[in-house]
Amino acid sequence: MDKRSLQAATKSLPIPEIFFYEEVDSTNERALAMLADDMPEFTLLVAERQTAGRGRMGRKWSTTPGGSLAFSVVLHPQGEEIQNLGFFSLLGALAICLAIEQVCPLQPKVKWPNDVLLQEKKTAGILTETTFLGGHLAGVVVGLGINLLRASVPPPDMVMFPATCVSEFCPHLPQREAFLAMILEGLIAWRRRILSQDFMDAYRKRMAFIGQPVRLIPPAAGEIEGELLGVDERGQLVLKVKADEVQVFPVGDVKLREADQSWPASPMP
Ligand code: BTN
Repeated sequence: MDKRSLQAATKSLPIPEIFFYEEVDSTNERALAMLADDMPEFTLLVAERQTAGRGRMGRKWSTTPGGSLAFSVVLHPQGEEIQNLGFFSLLGALAICLAIEQVCPLQPKVKWPNDVLLQEKKTAGILTETTFLGGHLAGVVVGLGINLLRASVPPPDMVMFPATCVSEFCPHLPQREAFLAMILEGLIAWRRRILSQDFMDAYRKRMAFIGQPVRLIPPAAGEIEGELLGVDERGQLVLKVKADEVQVFPVGDVKLREADQSWPASPMP
């Protein structure tokens, strides 16, 4: 993979500029740093290797050269979108699901808000970050990390949730550049309709654990158990905690697990 092969694969898409790194600290970090320079919407940053790739909740994210995809997309929310920045995390997960659906016989699912699962194992994650400059939103960076080949799957003792890769279930995985372009195509198409009912419905349809008992671990509270009902129109998780009580949780640092899954006492790297 190089800048030229990425340009060729994405030539039909409205990508204003591609930054390709053989090695970089983190594509999200680079994108956030560049936001001050007025980077246009859909600017793309792709890395073969990240030395300080990061995941949600302060975790590390490892990228296997040749075996995974690690990239960030710059977006500029406007108007009402700014009140719904959580939607941009859901957008990344939806785009990955749509691409997998085109090449895999298996239906991917999203563990709210944005872990993409294949047979209940994580194959991709999204980290959405924002920067404010002079009190104004400078932009949103949606960072996507996808395990494609077996070599990219972290060992079980390094992860909080069972992990897998796309090729495990997709015998005919396209070239990485082509797969990246498929993800971008979905991301760009749905980004334009991010406030629509159709967007939320498309996301909802792919949610994992609907109707099942789950555990939530919000950052400042203990565990909460309930039946997962879905997401509301703001992308918040809706949980039935008692027969007559429903609670909602905003997109943030909330951890979600199936109720019967073990939960490590302390976070691992
Ligand atoms: C998670 O599941 O915790 C989110 C992982 C996000 C990883 C991607 S890889 C590209 C981009 N750059 C980063 O440093 N992180 C995101």
